[in-house]
Amino acid sequence: MPESLTVTDNRTGRTYDLPIENGAVRATAFEEMKLADDDHGLMVYDPAFLNTASCTSRVTYIDGDRGILLYRGYPIEQLAEHSTFLETAYLLVHGELPTAAEAAAWQHDITIHTLVHENVKSFMDGFHHDAHPMGMLLSTVGALSTFYPDSTKIHDEAQRRISIYRLIAKMPTLAAFAYRHSRGLPYNYPDNDLSFAGNFLSMMFRMVEPRYYAVPEIEHALDVLFILHADHEQNCSTNAMRVVGSSHPDPYSATAAAIAALYGPLHGGANEAVIRMIERIGSLDNIPEFVSGVKAGKERLMGFGHRVYKNYDPRAKVIKRMADQVLSVTGTSPLLEIARELEKIALEDEYFVSRKLYPNVDFYSGFIYQALGIPVEMFPVLFAIPRTAGWLSQWEESLLDKEQKIARPRQVYLGEAARDYVPMDDRTRQRVEAVAAV
Ligand code: CMC
Repeated sequence: MPESLTVTDNRTGRTYDLPIENGAVRATAFEEMKLADDDHGLMVYDPAFLNTASCTSRVTYIDGDRGILLYRGYPIEQLAEHSTFLETAYLLVHGELPTAAEAAAWQHDITIHTLVHENVKSFMDGFHHDAHPMGMLLSTVGALSTFYPDSTKIHDEAQRRISIYRLIAKMPTLAAFAYRHSRGLPYNYPDNDLSFAGNFLSMMFRMVEPRYYAVPEIEHALDVLFILHADHEQNCSTNAMRVVGSSHPDPYSATAAAIAALYGPLHGGANEAVIRMIERIGSLDNIPEFVSGVKAGKERLMGFGHRVYKNYDPRAKVIKRMADQVLSVTGTSPLLEIARELEKIALEDEYFVSRKLYPNVDFYSGFIYQALGIPVEMFPVLFAIPRTAGWLSQWEESLLDKEQKIARPRQVYLGEAARDYVPMDDRTRQRVEAVAAV
């Protein structure tokens, strides 16, 4: 079977053979299809990248029809059961699971970078008490670039390594500082003897006790959530990381852009939006009216649907099971009961079935965060902490990819043709005359 696509341009009658490589044809092959020599050639129009591969990648694989997610080839379910977040972050960044010595060195390298410069506390203090923590996180991550001017040397492997350690290590510290600021509480410094998740919980919740020990089940649940959120191939924020990274700024600036992309309610902000939606629904009796509103196009069922998954999101399956385990320790939530019933109704309803809309990672994660005592506005921040490992893996892959250049899409121009400038008096008169003529 020839691995090619034959295209006939009916405007010219010419036929072109386009090689098919890894299930894709090169969009630039269409440039050859011209009406005249000075014609730019055909473009491929794909708003929102519905069917455009912008890179090759070896990091994460998704089979959306079968609900499969692999990090570097390892099924997400196995990583959730057997791995830790730090080990998974190593896997994403390096491509292989670490040996014992490599894991110890990685843990050391991340842990020694958990502190932030004392000046960061002054930025934090500049925010209003009710500033959204995602806004605080993205600003302070962007500001970190000013503390590490050498991080602009992105072609130096040693500089990239240290930026990767710093970003993965400092993200929980900045996130916890944002929370403490919003509560008017003193900042807690990192406790490097604790696990990655345990240290984060300590920076969030330690009061006057000399050391904070999280409930083991809670610490474990948070670590698993971090694993599940660590990467997800070319989603909106990863694309932002690659696009911004393609102009070669330091990785702090690119990560700030990725956090901004994650902030929106259609992406990482959905976990927050789900809880607000369920609170608004308020009781089981109100579900049918809410679902009718969604079907009438008044709003979206947050935490449902995905560009790639046309099946149950494998992360949501793990999270749903875990929500039961965590709530058996922390006490049940009436909101979870509403969510379960909402899911049941949606999965049987023709509107959702025909559009292949299933729960995604954000539908149940918020219930676990809530049970851990984390306020709703922090939920997208909890997504950003682990996703940093994925963003950095994809950023480095992109930088080392010889085929990549500065990201610069084309456009289909539909605006005015060239025209002459009209002085203000003339244009005012013309408009008045045009209105009078109507
Ligand atoms: N509720 C109701 N209808 C929906 C939903 C939803 N959550 N999602 C999609 N649809 C409908 C949509 O109205 C459209 O219907 P029609 O064909 O009649 O116009 C159809 O399904 C296809 O939707 P789309 O907007 O073309 O799909 P998309 O791939 O552009 O959007 C999405 C994907 C995730 C943005 C969307 O499903 C959505 O808005 N979901 C709710 C927000 C959410 O949960 N986001 C988290 C995504 S997973 C984690 C992450 O990436 O952060």
